[in-house]
Amino acid sequence: MADFTLLVNGAPYRVQAAPEEPLLTVLRNRLQLTGTKFGCGEGECGACTVLLSGKAARSCITTVSSAAGSEIITIEGIERHGQLSPVQQAFLEEGAFQCAYCTTGMIVAATSLLQDHPHPTDEQILTAMDGNICRCGTYPRILAAIHRASAIMAQKKGADHARG
Ligand code: FES
Ligand code: FES
Repeated sequence: MADFTLLVNGAPYRVQAAPEEPLLTVLRNRLQLTGTKFGCGEGECGACTVLLSGKAARSCITTVSSAAGSEIITIEGIERHGQLSPVQQAFLEEGAFQCAYCTTGMIVAATSLLQDHPHPTDEQILTAMDGNICRCGTYPRILAAIHRASAIMAQKKGADHARG
């Protein structure tokens, strides 16, 4: 066991853990951040996706020791000041889920994609989201939601610009 300081959703947390413990179990079991889901546990489904220094990462195959020192954002940190993020808003408006087990990972992965590609093509979306599995098959609505999120972000940017 060792002591680690994790920077999660803007706040520092001290945790004691084995260095090879997956970040996912630390988030869920020690920090009670249960929005990040356990799916396959092998890096194959995307249910456990978090942002690690701004990039989508599978927390089930990320060790706590390698995550220490990076900025970690979970689904709980995507919303800001009580406001849904554009991606969350778009997923709701498009109804881009059924059981919603995959949804938090999808939203985090889409957030990462839109940071890199604010106006993604279908192909860019399909490539970026390829590793995120939805067993309910809501892929067409997820695709539509990501395009809608892109439009919401552009609209907000335009409004901010106009306000100066
Ligand atoms: S639970 Fe991590 S990729 Fe499936
Ligand atoms: S909405 Fe059920 S797994 Fe995606």
